[in-house]
Amino acid sequence: MPIFIDAITTSMKRSLSSLAILTLSASAIFAAGDANHEIIEKVMKEGMKGDSSPHAKLIAGTATADEVKTLTDLIHTMTGTKAPVGDQSNYDKKVAALVAGIDAIQGGNKSPEALAAYKEAANCKGCHSAHKPK
Ligand code: HEC
Repeated sequence: MPIFIDAITTSMKRSLSSLAILTLSASAIFAAGDANHEIIEKVMKEGMKGDSSPHAKLIAGTATADEVKTLTDLIHTMTGTKAPVGDQSNYDKKVAALVAGIDAIQGGNKSPEALAAYKEAANCKGCHSAHKPK
């Protein structure tokens, strides 16, 4: 009898600990999702959004070197983020193009082609329609 009870408690302990592990991994996933969202949100709000954003100024040709640097640093934080929705490899390509585009400008390429390439990579709708949650 005691052996039987012992077996039950052992199996209960096992399921309890797997439950604990499940709960832990679920909260880890949620935390990662939050961090991901925060990274992208920061880039959007501080880099891309509005007429006075570093992005808008860059397009208008009025961004200072500091603003270009800020935008470059912000955009780089998107590397390795998870696509909130849509195909990850498609998202990775868009982020890589955006990084390459801003890197060229930050690196001193002032040609109209470099600006056009950045502008295309930074196309808001082009990325949002596939990867921004509704
Ligand atoms: C390479 C992809 C990409 C490009 C280019 C892009 N965005 Fe975004 N943006 C996103 C993603 C992904 C989200 C959703 C983030 C989330 O909800 O986790 C987002 C969200 C936003 C948000 C909402 C932020 C919030 O959560 O409060 C704003 C505002 C925004 N983008 C502005 C812009 C503007 C303006 C442009 C163009 C000048 C632009 N974005 C270009 C990927 C992009």
